[in-house]
Amino acid sequence: MKAVLMRGYGGPEVLEYADTRDPQAEPGEIVVDVHAVSLNPADWKVREGLRKGDVKARFPHIPGRDFSGVVRKTGAGVSDFQPGDPVFAVNEQGCEGGYAEAVAIPAALAAPKPDFLSHAQASALAMTGLTSLRALEDEAKLRAGETILIHAGAGGVGGFAVQYAKHMGAVVYTTASAANHEYVKELGAHHAIDYGQEDFAEAAPPCDVVFDTIGGEVHARSFAVLKPGGRLVHIAAGPPGFTPPREDVCVIRPDVRRDRAHLGRIVELAASGAVRPPYIKEMPLADAAAAQEISKAGHVRGKIILRVR
Ligand SMILES: NC(=O)c1ccc[n+]([C@@H]2O[C@H](COP(=O)([O-])OP(=O)(O)OC[C@H]3O[C@@H](n4cnc5c(N)ncnc54)[C@H](OP(=O)(O)O)[C@@H]3O)[C@@H](O)[C@H]2O)c1
Repeated sequence: MKAVLMRGYGGPEVLEYADTRDPQAEPGEIVVDVHAVSLNPADWKVREGLRKGDVKARFPHIPGRDFSGVVRKTGAGVSDFQPGDPVFAVNEQGCEGGYAEAVAIPAALAAPKPDFLSHAQASALAMTGLTSLRALEDEAKLRAGETILIHAGAGGVGGFAVQYAKHMGAVVYTTASAANHEYVKELGAHHAIDYGQEDFAEAAPPCDVVFDTIGGEVHARSFAVLKPGGRLVHIAAGPPGFTPPREDVCVIRPDVRRDRAHLGRIVELAASGAVRPPYIKEMPLADAAAAQEISKAGHVRGKIILRVR
């Protein structure tokens, strides 16, 4: 099969679109013919060796965490899927990924893909939805009437989070460049803050929850907008050596475990219209290296999806 092979750590040149062996379905696994695979910032971070501490890659390694496709084969003991079933999934870090014509994955990490979502849309909602639901629903326990600041509402995770928070009945502030204000308002943000022109710490009111998807200095300054007892939930690290400056707020880094139940919850939210697929830029799988460089530049609106078939 064709796949994108990461030959080692480095720049985009370590990615090669080449032939490799087809995956086999081990007991408990399914092999999925991939139609669409999502591009995440983690993909280029792993490629550059920035995640060596928590992601052990053996080379050549196939990147790609969340994807959508059709079951080709089932391994021993798999009774919940049949060949031909459309599925979508988020695979564990370090495993061979979805930048390929086929991938093997534990059946327990996959969920049926509903007909009303295309493969591109399902893969765009998978990791972004899983992360947002773990952060806001399971950990921050966002409630109706609360005020939330979501950083990077125009991005993949932020775009899902804005929609979810609006659906929950929260008052939603988000940061985005001016060019994305219309987009984040379409997603449901009540207020958009142009982070290039305004200091969000002054523009946002006291918040019950901040969802930080940016990290660094943004993480450090986010403490200023929290009400006493507020929750800062973050998926990107603060500055090196940073110590939270307040003890009257709760700081949460969610463990984004993969499971079928959360994918089912994403389908439920999409079916009800509470969350819709983000803006999607599709690129061919063979252009994965170029796509990762676009992601690295930090201004993707919605999601980049690599089209496999
Ligand atoms: N399991 C996990 O813990 C987990 C899971 C998923 C993601 N992540 C991490 O979470 C982060 C976000 O992921 P993502 O997929 O949502 O990223 P993304 O889609 O690539 O985010 C791009 C967006 O960031 C916005 N942006 C850039 N700089 C900004 C700033 N200073 N303030 C506000 N917005 C800004 C851009 O909007 P403008 O063009 O308007 O600037 C763009 O729309 C990444 O670091 C990723 O690695 C962690």
